[in-house]
Amino acid sequence: MSLVEIKDLKVHYPIRSGFWNRVTDEVPAVDGITFNIEAGETYGLVGESGSGKSTTGKSVVGLEKVTSGSILYNGQDITKKENRRKLDYNHDVQMIFQDSLSSLNPRKRIEDIIAEPLRNFEHLSKEDEKLRVLQLLDIVGLDADALYKYPHQFSGGQRQRIGVARAVATNPKLIIADEPVSALDLSVQAQVLNFMKKIQREFGISYLFISHDLGVVRHMCNNIAIMNRGRLVEIGTRDDIYNHPLHIYTKRLLAAIPETNVNQRAAHRASRLAVEEVYREQQDKYYDSEGKAYPLVAVSPTHQVALPEAIAKQLAQQESEVQA
Ligand SMILES: Nc1ncnc2c1ncn2[C@@H]1O[C@H](COP(=O)(O)OP(=O)(O)O)[C@@H](O)[C@H]1O
Ligand SMILES: [Mg+2]
Repeated sequence: MSLVEIKDLKVHYPIRSGFWNRVTDEVPAVDGITFNIEAGETYGLVGESGSGKSTTGKSVVGLEKVTSGSILYNGQDITKKENRRKLDYNHDVQMIFQDSLSSLNPRKRIEDIIAEPLRNFEHLSKEDEKLRVLQLLDIVGLDADALYKYPHQFSGGQRQRIGVARAVATNPKLIIADEPVSALDLSVQAQVLNFMKKIQREFGISYLFISHDLGVVRHMCNNIAIMNRGRLVEIGTRDDIYNHPLHIYTKRLLAAIPETNVNQRAAHRASRLAVEEVYREQQDKYYDSEGKAYPLVAVSPTHQVALPEAIAKQLAQQESEVQA
């Protein structure tokens, strides 16, 4: 049994309009996705803005009303509120957001921000609480004098580390990290990712790591799902996704990874344009007549792609010939 099993999850938002404010349509933000997160792993969920990643993340935390499907946590369906309560789910599962300046209360001191989940879930003495907060600051590499400061007195990278400290305060089993480093400079991104890895090793945490950038996920995740228009278009190991991508959408995301080496930029731009060209020409092959991604089919025990079976097999075959 996996730690988390997401089965055919759908989250459709109603659109209301007209004088009576009736529901006239819906946005299929998440439209039938299935994947598992193993205990202790970092699972990557990657797609462009608007593909439904945050809606998925919020559903897993229990912040979004699910239209259909199930999310099993240790085998229990947590889309039901009574199960979340019974399992003490809010204690086990925490979230880290992209924008730490707006997710950390600007009027509270760091001590109170980090202690908040402790006050909600654990009833420590004042001394023990302070000790625990100091430990947490130490874990994310911040000095004790941070205790009495406010969020605006820190850099973006430091604030993100404070967000990490707060998220791990209650020793959670699972953290949903929604674009945790997307607002940070490249050099600072690496620092925060390293802290997240270190904490994972120390506490045995699982992450659902959400990003629009396949470059960021590369060194964090062993398994990755690619999301597009509410559906998954490809699932695989790091090697499957980076070295043998099959769906044109995955190839586009790979081509969009920013090139940091100045000497490579011209070549990188040329290959990105080539992928865009193929995308324009062959789009029809990759989506059904309604423009939706196909159901996933397996091309190997670890690798699935959203294509009709014959095409999937043919592409996988071509891919392995190119590699040979
Ligand atoms: N509360 C909401 N009401 C209606 N539509 C929403 C709501 N939240 C998100 N959406 C829509 O759902 C889709 C997926 O959004 P989101 O999950 O935020 O994607 P991502 O995180 O990948 O950028 C988008 O089209 C977005 O506009
Ligand atoms: Mg988002």
